[in-house]
Amino acid sequence: MQIGNGLKIFSGNANRPLAQGIAEKLGQPLGKIRFKRFIDGEIWVQYDENIRGCDLFIIQPTNPPAENLIELLIMIDAARRASAKRITTVIPYFGYARQDRKDQPRVSITAKLIANIISHAGADRVLTIDLHTPQIQGFFDIPMDHLATTKIFTDYFRQKGIKDLLLVAPDLGRFKIFAETFNVPMALVIKRRVGNDIEIQGVVGDVKSKNCLLIDDILSSGNTLLKGVAALRHLGANDIYVACTHALLSDHTVLKL
Ligand code: R5P
Repeated sequence: MQIGNGLKIFSGNANRPLAQGIAEKLGQPLGKIRFKRFIDGEIWVQYDENIRGCDLFIIQPTNPPAENLIELLIMIDAARRASAKRITTVIPYFGYARQDRKDQPRVSITAKLIANIISHAGADRVLTIDLHTPQIQGFFDIPMDHLATTKIFTDYFRQKGIKDLLLVAPDLGRFKIFAETFNVPMALVIKRRVGNDIEIQGVVGDVKSKNCLLIDDILSSGNTLLKGVAALRHLGANDIYVACTHALLSDHTVLKL
């Protein structure tokens, strides 16, 4: 039995294979934890080993269903009550991030709401990757480590030695992030949300005969990607490559792709 300040990693049920992979990389087994459901579906969690004084890492993305978020909160609360010394929540996909401002009357800023709930549950630190918008970091009053994949993706495609590669942003937010990170030729796809769908309004930049690399943070319905690719194709782009961090693959996205 480990007593004291050891590092321990626990996973919820949102993406255990990912947590398993992280644990293997670190050469450390995942901690033992038990999950049960009450007959009405409510979640019950118990750490199956001593975590008093531990530097605890909980890996749990908060993509739908909302059970993933609830499970994370219960894990944080249980860890706090079991006297873990520090609780770091590793939330690779931070759900509910798309509503990050009050863009219409009488709507919620869910990104702030979720940040509040996670902090109040007792997390000491949050680690995430490719937030929908980087300013969500500021919604937390606890330390937040925000990792980015942009360089991993661009290095990967650079190694392929593709000629005339044009970096394409699927929206203004991503365009700003790319522009701050790279000094390469870029284009921008302008889109508008129409209900649950999107409409491409135009493309800024000359994509004709260029090999395009479209990078997005989220791939959900696939509409942004598919319609973006169609618009680039229509304007005479050559080969089109796509990369995306969070493959939610809702709807029949895999089939559509
Ligand atoms: C939106 O602003 C995001 O950056 C993604 O472009 C969007 O969430 C992708 O969703 P979908 O695949 O449903 O178009």
